[in-house]
Amino acid sequence: MSNIKLSLDTLSKFVGNGDIDGIRGEIAAAKEVLMSGKGAGNDFLGWVDLPTRTDEAFVERVEKEAARLAGMSETVVVIGIGGSYLGTRAVVEALAANDRKEKGANIVYAGHTMDPDYYAQLMKRLDKADYSVVVISKSGTTTEPAIAFRLIRQHLEKKYGKEEAKRRIAVVTDEKKGALHSIAGAEGLPQFVIPDNVGGRFSVLTPVGLLPIAAAGYDIRKMLEGARRMQKECAESRSLEECTALMYAAIRNVLYRKGYKVEILTSFKYGLRYFSEWWKQLYGESEGKEGKGILPYSLSFTTDLHSLGQYVQEGERMIFETMMEVKASTREYTVPKDAENIDGLNYIAERTLTYVNNNALKGTREAHYDGNVPVIGMEIERIDEEVLGEMIYMFEYACAVSGYTLGVNPFNQPGVEAYKTNMFRLLGKPGF
Ligand code: PA5
Repeated sequence: MSNIKLSLDTLSKFVGNGDIDGIRGEIAAAKEVLMSGKGAGNDFLGWVDLPTRTDEAFVERVEKEAARLAGMSETVVVIGIGGSYLGTRAVVEALAANDRKEKGANIVYAGHTMDPDYYAQLMKRLDKADYSVVVISKSGTTTEPAIAFRLIRQHLEKKYGKEEAKRRIAVVTDEKKGALHSIAGAEGLPQFVIPDNVGGRFSVLTPVGLLPIAAAGYDIRKMLEGARRMQKECAESRSLEECTALMYAAIRNVLYRKGYKVEILTSFKYGLRYFSEWWKQLYGESEGKEGKGILPYSLSFTTDLHSLGQYVQEGERMIFETMMEVKASTREYTVPKDAENIDGLNYIAERTLTYVNNNALKGTREAHYDGNVPVIGMEIERIDEEVLGEMIYMFEYACAVSGYTLGVNPFNQPGVEAYKTNMFRLLGKPGF
């Protein structure tokens, strides 16, 4: 049994049994296309059985390298963008919020921006820190991480000397091609391979995510265990009711066809902000093409109830919501009692923050439902490595099935090239 369940009470007004029955066949067909490997983009299906295919020898090698990097430095700079960045950040930030870490390096990020002010701050920090680097790029040629790697390598070599700098770099890239692969070969840097048949946004359970997450001190075995459990649920379930991913894929397609073109992923857990960023890339890049696709957006509550809450409640009715409800917290606070009670808060004095936050969640769910926002409740037992592994696989599987149901190839991203072509022309890159 997985730790993620859907609760559909706040959908009843919008999605009836007839709607679900109406789409069952299409979802089953999309699953069949995915599992048979006969659909569009079928050269990118390596993620489907990745959790069960990942063997002990590989996990040991990743853990060993992660321990080496974290052992020699308090900070690890993770260089990457898009699918080579967001999965790591999603997991590291979610687990950091749990405050249970006993070992591992501090992770800082580079290569996801070209803003010089960001690098000025980062370099200031690296001047003082003892650090090593994991550079991640499947193509090995993406401009943003390539520039960041040049900058940081130069800093590293100045700080530690050329030979020591080499000991402080690990590379995650293609097995045979790309500039990064060539640099790693020429310099003798440790290399980890991103399988050819796994696209960037589906790659968090490859060394792309596993190496930096392990360097941060988290248990990648547990992550893989959770992902395996979800892989089994997805592969073996025979009905929507038995499978969170399939039901989620079904509901979002039903809602899309009824005119709900924007999905907001929301949570009252602050640490899930970057999980939502990962999810946005996964769904946006997989489905937004050929003039179609739900726009994925995310909000962190209650923070954003004080900014976009108004729009969600009363703006144009094109939004549906997937509300992640995490049952457990690792730490707790209670609202202090105050004899003077000038702020009038004594009505919740000695109540836990979880109690208050949960009631905010219930109140919000009810308000959004009343305001004609369909809400898919997603109940998540807790946030740890195992459950994050389940969540990652569940959202990936649902995304693939949902994309096939929508009638697009969920595994390509032709639109991403447009800005690059213009940028290269403007920069005078040879051939553009
Ligand atoms: O999902 C994708 O394919 C993209 O987001 C890529 O991950 C991103 O562009 C980075 O590419 P690369 O890993 O080749 O540097």
